[in-house]
Amino acid sequence: MSLHLRNARLLTLAGPTGARRGPALRELGVIPHGEVLVQDGRIAAVGTKVDAPADAEVIDAAGRVLMPGFVDCHTHACWAGDRLDEWEKKLNGVPYLQILREGGGIHSSVRAVREATQKQLAASLRERLGQMLRMGTTTVEVKSGYGLNTEAELKMLRAIRRAATEWQGTVVATALLGHAVEGDLEDYSRMVVKEMLAEVSREFPDIAVDAFCEREAWSVEACQRLFEKARKHHPIRVHADQFTSLGMIPEAIRLHARSVDHLEASTKADLVALAQSETFGVILPATGFHTDQRFAKAGFFVDQGGALALATNCNPGSSPTGSIPFAIALAVRFCGLLPAEAITAATVNAAAVLGFSDRGTIEVGQRADLVLLHHKDERQLAYELGGNPVDLVICGGALVRH
Ligand code: NIG
Repeated sequence: MSLHLRNARLLTLAGPTGARRGPALRELGVIPHGEVLVQDGRIAAVGTKVDAPADAEVIDAAGRVLMPGFVDCHTHACWAGDRLDEWEKKLNGVPYLQILREGGGIHSSVRAVREATQKQLAASLRERLGQMLRMGTTTVEVKSGYGLNTEAELKMLRAIRRAATEWQGTVVATALLGHAVEGDLEDYSRMVVKEMLAEVSREFPDIAVDAFCEREAWSVEACQRLFEKARKHHPIRVHADQFTSLGMIPEAIRLHARSVDHLEASTKADLVALAQSETFGVILPATGFHTDQRFAKAGFFVDQGGALALATNCNPGSSPTGSIPFAIALAVRFCGLLPAEAITAATVNAAAVLGFSDRGTIEVGQRADLVLLHHKDERQLAYELGGNPVDLVICGGALVRH
């Protein structure tokens, strides 16, 4: 079955494969009155006019914006339980890192995840993926990291794999092996590097490996030990500078990390170095919005020629949202981005962070993951707050019906 989308304002984001940097983030490849033909799950034709078979299902966009499906390249969307009591504490002024230090935060999700079955974890993730798809996200990265022991980490990764098979979109799992610490960091991180990494590598050979470099979590040295070993077989990613600039950015660049995520506390010198490297910067503005009103200087990073991506960081502690439109709205208000830059950061660049070059643009041969907005001007995507701007989602060439 073919789909013929007509009369759309097309954001093709057509351009060279790979990261868009600096001013290229503002180039959306707009075709003001365009058409797209979708066949066999792929984009078969794009232009001001395309030839479509007579039996193609016609969708009249009526001038609305048709763009690539969103790619959410950083989430912790697999969890159990909730953190509502802690959130009330936080509303009463207790900071995130203090809650973590006192055995709450990530540790309270760890307790809930250990108690949950793999089936329960998969079911709750599947529900969240459904909500994300309705808001236009067609590819999602989901991290483990609430297991903290080999058995529970593998349970999470298997649950993520299971939920992925039951969802129309694409799920990319990441092994967040260095999230928090149980007992002494030195002993714990050595166990992770020696035992947990080996088990994960055996069952998930291509998976990216991640760590949270922060006070009360993993030190730069512990991250180095993990990444030096992991990078022989796995792409590596790192949470750095969320609250504290500990010096992880130069190390991440040296280790050829795929991305450094967060950046709220990064120094300008580190942002310049990151911008000049091959490593992506990933901003997560819903996190600052929910925790402490600190945001990454993404506009500065883009001005320095950086390769920027944007994600929700969906998780129960620091970012309880799976909405990319909301993350875009925050990025333009608090991180110094223009709407076009935020759109590129949440589509083609986010896809590149996950190693995909077959999505994030509307070009012939690409996977047909498309979003029809309610709006005729894409800036509305960043302007509107708190609603769902998505009228229609096409995922892998199929119309998503809710
Ligand atoms: O990216 N900072 C570390 N990990 C998550 C939060 C996880 C949690 O609080 O449960 C983040 O913000």
